[in-house]
Amino acid sequence: MKRIGVLTGGGDCPGLNPTIRAVVRKAIHDNYDVVGIKNGWKGLIDQDTIHLDLNSISGILVKGGTILGTSRTNPFKDPKNVEKVKAHFKALKLYCLIAIGGEDTLGVANKLCKIGVPVVGIPKTIDNDLNATDFTFGFDTAVNIAMEAIDRLHTTAESHHRVMVVEVMGRHAGWIATYAGIAGGADMILIPEQPTALEDIVAVLKKRRQRGKTFSIVVAAEGAMLKDYSMVLKTEKKDAFGHVVLGGIGQLLAEKIEEATGYETRVTVLGHIQRGGSPTAFDRVLSTRFGIKAIELVNEKQFGKMVCLDGNQIKSVPLTKAVGKLKTVDMDFFNMARIFFG
Ligand code: F6P
Repeated sequence: MKRIGVLTGGGDCPGLNPTIRAVVRKAIHDNYDVVGIKNGWKGLIDQDTIHLDLNSISGILVKGGTILGTSRTNPFKDPKNVEKVKAHFKALKLYCLIAIGGEDTLGVANKLCKIGVPVVGIPKTIDNDLNATDFTFGFDTAVNIAMEAIDRLHTTAESHHRVMVVEVMGRHAGWIATYAGIAGGADMILIPEQPTALEDIVAVLKKRRQRGKTFSIVVAAEGAMLKDYSMVLKTEKKDAFGHVVLGGIGQLLAEKIEEATGYETRVTVLGHIQRGGSPTAFDRVLSTRFGIKAIELVNEKQFGKMVCLDGNQIKSVPLTKAVGKLKTVDMDFFNMARIFFG
């Protein structure tokens, strides 16, 4: 019986457990043995694994997070770790690996494929910024959480005649901000793709007051920037993939808005609430379809590929096409949201 290893890497997101469940169910159905590798690539460096059977995945469809654990480990930071990954792949008698992750995890998968480790990738991230797939799972859940927060902020903003700034996740791409902003009726949306001038925000807020609207909602992605200001970081420290920790644009915006308009302003930072909890039906179905397709690719020996959503069809693309370039917000789509600014 051939053995498949499965791991989840990078930031967690709703939909990881349904993916693991689908991978294990389909793999067992197709006569494979499945080993879970704990905490992303770290588990392959440390040979930290768990056997996965029907019992281990029972009841996980509705659960957020990942039963395998995750980490932001990059084995390519140290050549010794790459050797360990290769050696442990052999020691565990693995036929291939299924890597569930975003740009960083799948970037490692792509490099490993090039040195002879057979991997199939499955895209995940709440940021929805992975190239070569229309959507990643986790995104829909995050958008719904952010939309609900905006709905709730609307009633308190209206009662107090305040400006409410909502900071959502989105490091390099403003997909969550744009979708949640449109769905929640935001009066202004700021995304990393396009720095916004403070004067433009102030003009929108003033225009609303002039037409009798005494409250406003401003949605900002954490990676958004104000023109003439640099990106707001929480710390300068970088992770294994060179990413800084973002956060603070909401606070900066609230201060600048209040200063420039005199309108009382509050800020809400949604943070990791967007990554927690039960996945939406859309994310459960998408992640299940991805998991099934990944095993089909294994059956066909299509290694070095990533499953993807193309329209409403589940297809596959070479990993090289998926990594290296992020999928940022389409500006035509963003311009549609602008109609509602002010
Ligand atoms: O990549 C997904 C993401 O949620 C980003 O939107 C965010 O900047 C980052 O992860 C936060 O990472 P951490 O969990 O390490 O704080």
